[in-house]
Amino acid sequence: MGTVGAKDVPVLMSPDGLRIDGRREDEIRPIRIVAGALRQADGSAFVEWGHNKVMAAVYGPREVHPRHLQENHKAIVQCRYNMAAFSVDERKRPGLDRRSQEISKVIGEAFESVVFAEEFPRTSIDVYIEVLQANAGTRCAGLVAASVALADAGIPMVDLLPAVAVGKVAGEIVLDLKKEEDNYGEADLPMALVPQSGRLVLLQMEGHLTREELAKALDLGVQGCREVHAKMKEALRTRYAEGDGGAA
Ligand code: CDP
Repeated sequence: MGTVGAKDVPVLMSPDGLRIDGRREDEIRPIRIVAGALRQADGSAFVEWGHNKVMAAVYGPREVHPRHLQENHKAIVQCRYNMAAFSVDERKRPGLDRRSQEISKVIGEAFESVVFAEEFPRTSIDVYIEVLQANAGTRCAGLVAASVALADAGIPMVDLLPAVAVGKVAGEIVLDLKKEEDNYGEADLPMALVPQSGRLVLLQMEGHLTREELAKALDLGVQGCREVHAKMKEALRTRYAEGDGGAA
């Protein structure tokens, strides 16, 4: 990795427009999705996305714990995003910190807007996301893994939810930021959408973008989500073509 100046900031964009890992601005890191990666869960998926490694497991619809959260007319979606202590460069303190709580909340809400919750009153659909290795974009990788896991569990939904982060790096709008781009870039904008309608169900932003840049970033993100969606469908197709003798 090339560096400039005393602060050791990496060169994020080469003079011929290549990013730190050689990608063009509209390229996604390699993605591998395994649907049904665990035997015990009702549904599961493992996602490797660049250097991210994320496992998702889904249980339910099942009894609600704690009981007072139960809703009489619909299922609730409870999501827990967790980063393993060994998932990052400097050991992360185990347990739910504010960041994990925020990510759990936004992912849970994204799923609540696509799951047919009225079909399962007084139940809970529990989604567990475990980040084993992190390299930026883990909430998107987690959401993608969880979405495939929900489908694998047979939970009825409007559609799968692809997700990707877009951002601004060295003045350029780019797709799917990796760690250095996330750390030293100007903006990071994770998003998830319903592919058929284009409806956004998760949109967050850190940093600054002009109105024009935001429009460009959203277009690029939609394009990226469509690419991720195709990979999610392919993973499920592979799983069900193989039957129960699949990856787990
Ligand atoms: O992972 P995501 O991009 O969704 O969330 P973020 O809060 O923007 O974090 C970006 C990246 O910073 C993570 O993917 C990790 O690689 C890293 N990180 C870390 O090293 N230690 C933490 N406690 C949290 C994040």
